Amino acid sequence: MSARLLRGWVVDFVDGQVRDQREGALVVAKDGRIAWTGAHARLPKSYAGLPADDYGECLILPGLIDPHIHFPQYRILAAPGKDLLDWLNRFTFPEEARYRSKPHAVAAAESFLDKLIANGTTSTLAFCSVHKTCVDALFAAAERRNMALVTGKTMMDRNAPTAVLDDPETGGYDSAQLIGKWHGRGRLRYAITPRFAVTSSEAQLAVSGELLKDYPDCLMQTHISESAGEIDFVSQQFPWSKDYTDVYERYGLLGPTSLFAHGIHLAERECRRMSETGSAVLHCPTSNTFLGSGLFRYRHLTESRRPVGVGIATDVGGGTSYSMLQTLGEAYKVGMLGGHKFTAGDLFAMATIGNAERLHLDDEIGSLKVGKWADVVVLDPTATPVMAARHEVSSSLEDILFSLMILGDDRAVRATHIAGKRVHGKRPRQ
Ligand code: GUN
Ligand code: ZN
Repeated sequence: MSARLLRGWVVDFVDGQVRDQREGALVVAKDGRIAWTGAHARLPKSYAGLPADDYGECLILPGLIDPHIHFPQYRILAAPGKDLLDWLNRFTFPEEARYRSKPHAVAAAESFLDKLIANGTTSTLAFCSVHKTCVDALFAAAERRNMALVTGKTMMDRNAPTAVLDDPETGGYDSAQLIGKWHGRGRLRYAITPRFAVTSSEAQLAVSGELLKDYPDCLMQTHISESAGEIDFVSQQFPWSKDYTDVYERYGLLGPTSLFAHGIHLAERECRRMSETGSAVLHCPTSNTFLGSGLFRYRHLTESRRPVGVGIATDVGGGTSYSMLQTLGEAYKVGMLGGHKFTAGDLFAMATIGNAERLHLDDEIGSLKVGKWADVVVLDPTATPVMAARHEVSSSLEDILFSLMILGDDRAVRATHIAGKRVHGKRPRQ
């Protein structure tokens, strides 16, 4: 790729602040990294002749990061289960069984990543199915797009149909093989992925803990404390445990590279252990309201005497939208119901630099700092007639970001660039 210039209203979220430059510029070097940002009027002469994409009054933001999504659920959004466990059994496990087929997984990976990119999501931590074919297909498709993507083979050895089960030995062996093949290859990373305590035996959780010890720079992802039925089931299966968190702690699965989706019903002791071990929890608001799982308690999780690191994610297909904008909007509403009023700046920071920190990729992505990859989303606050009307009365950048997250979705994504290259959207008219 040749070096190029992106022009527009450059907006970044750093150190708890929103920083912006109207009529700004961002220089992408040949290697796909950010070489310079600032006011276009101050562009150094050496960059003046670069080919430019001029996005005018559109906002140029760090690419959105989705740290919890299920690739093999990409077709089953809007499947109406009675609750989490019913939804898994009726819709999810049968769909995931299809990913044993290589042709299916390969075609699905293209479609899945295209949807993320069309929604302005440039990086993700994804669940795959239990099948190696699924992991190979997703990594290969991400590598072709030069995306920073983290995923792993789901491990599950009980309480589900045979077609989506492995066993502790093959689960461990296949995971180690996949780590050897993909972890650290270009922008790809591996996440050790026991699905959750409902579908893993004690032997399998022990293998997951061993893997994490053997590969400490891999992430670990799982689910925790999402629905009442699930929590009940776990306490019956692990009668010795103090609580749900204790089950994972027993097998060495808490720690600074561990990410737990949901955590809606975590009790005080559990939050304390999450905080003390540096584990993170991922808020998945559209999934939680859709499945009737409950309302995430942001204030409870982040209490200053034992703050838990929180990220924000879609959880497609339990989640109802690929759009991180819609996800932020839903988090705002869930916050309001729980007595916490987020600003748009808070939530966009969470979806960019915050999520990058959760993934331990904040040296590389999550903001528009010089030296990071030029993973960028361009948002048009006037993309639909309703948004255009709202924009006429927007009075500040916070107001524009707020209306984007309440009213915006993929229609508001004017372009997506990965490592500087435009991978979605048309070249703007010069
Ligand atoms: N818990 C275990 N598996 C899943 C899943 O696929 N989706 C959600 N929302 N929760 C889970
Ligand atoms: Zn999930």
